[in-house]
Amino acid sequence: MCNQDKTPLLDAITEFIDTKPAYFRIPGHRLERGISKKWTDKVGKEIFAYDVTETPFTDDLHSPEGAIEEAQELLQELYGAERSFFLVNGTTCGNEAMLLSVALEGQEVMVARNAHKSAMMGLIISGAKPVYIMPEILSEWGLQGGITPEQVRRTFEAHPACRALFLVSPSYYGIVSDLKAIADICHEYGAMLLIDEAHGGHLYFHEDLPKGALEQGADMCVQSMHKVTGALTQSSVLHMKSQLVDVERLAANLHIVQSTSPNYLLMTSLDCARYELALHGTEMMEQALRLAEDARKRIQAIDGFRCMGQEVVGQAGIAGVDGTRLIISAKEFGLTGFALEEILFERYAVNMELADYENVLAIVTYANTQEELERLVKACEEIAQEYSRMQETACEQPQLPQLPEQMLTPRQAYFAEAEEIAWQQAVGRISAEMIAPYPPGIPIIYPGECITQAVWDYLEKFRREKRHIHGSRDGRLEVIKVIKEESE
Ligand SMILES: Cc1ncc(COP(=O)(O)O)c(C=O)c1O
Repeated sequence: MCNQDKTPLLDAITEFIDTKPAYFRIPGHRLERGISKKWTDKVGKEIFAYDVTETPFTDDLHSPEGAIEEAQELLQELYGAERSFFLVNGTTCGNEAMLLSVALEGQEVMVARNAHKSAMMGLIISGAKPVYIMPEILSEWGLQGGITPEQVRRTFEAHPACRALFLVSPSYYGIVSDLKAIADICHEYGAMLLIDEAHGGHLYFHEDLPKGALEQGADMCVQSMHKVTGALTQSSVLHMKSQLVDVERLAANLHIVQSTSPNYLLMTSLDCARYELALHGTEMMEQALRLAEDARKRIQAIDGFRCMGQEVVGQAGIAGVDGTRLIISAKEFGLTGFALEEILFERYAVNMELADYENVLAIVTYANTQEELERLVKACEEIAQEYSRMQETACEQPQLPQLPEQMLTPRQAYFAEAEEIAWQQAVGRISAEMIAPYPPGIPIIYPGECITQAVWDYLEKFRREKRHIHGSRDGRLEVIKVIKEESE
């Protein structure tokens, strides 16, 4: 049993610095002396001494056998994993490595259609053939719901050779799928369950939060420790707990997607974030949940405002909701999420994580203060005083078209010759890009798929209404990049 009351990497670097070395390695700033004074005047000097590299004390991320190995073992123990890896290129590189590790060129992998774009990059690198699976839609909020076990089973029945299922859970909005049941189905088919848990590294520390992926049978998961714990931006971790994963291949793939000069500040931040979670995780999550719950109740009580709570569990494939996320809608005042986000920041200096067509999202962590939540609630109260309620505010959600036929894998499409054509001429062509209108933010077309009439009609409605379209090169969908046809 490891002792979690340790920070091996922080201690190793401290020990190294204490030797007062004449330093002739990379980085060139020489333990702070060479950093711009303009910068150190603002932020202080000390931190830069910890920006070191592989030394006799500080180990090597790519073949760890000292402080980094020990720090990763502590992490692994805390999360109950069989192996855990530090990542210095975010969950982005972890998702890529997972996909690269489970399928060879042309092999099938089931992928949730609402996956982060790093999944598409993983598919491009690996050459795997995606079999997409659609999340349910929570239309009342204009949001993506979960993936249901029934959908997963049906898709495996049609594609029993799928090597793995790649899902996002929790979503950006804190929505969790029934991973336990889904993991059981995957394993019946000898397939791995890979979870993009970018937004879920904190779930393991409080019983009022939905259970984490590893606790529910996932074979691998990746967590952006920088999103919800005290780690620095880009610092993520990958956990593995499975008989099915080839760990050597996974480690080799992590070499491909990560720098050969991994940043020691990032890795130390992971070491220290793990230390805090191990020692104080429950209190930290208690604080976040308490702040969020109090604000949610008060916003729900404001006439015309809505703030999503646990009532959506059981609908649209949703098995749980992370109570530290505040999803706020003021659409009854005719305000889109984008407009609300702007008002909150411009007038009240309240800075939300994101906005969509209908909602704004606040991520509440243990490090937020009551005063910050007060400002958010007060701002909502003032906005409600100022704006008047509208009669009809529902934004009509057209029926999603059937998934279009996949003519090329994402990798084939990425490397094929492409050209830009007018949107009006796009029916029947193979897309070279991904287009996702909001809401619900699900890609309607992926690279390599045929732009059917149904897909075109669906997107045309968004284009005409000048609604938000993500992925379109010009933002307006006047043009689209398609694969060049052979006769051209
Ligand atoms: C669901 C999801 N997966 C992956 C990522 C990428 O994570 P990172 O920023 O740690 O690379 C994000 C980033 O927002 C995300 O929302």
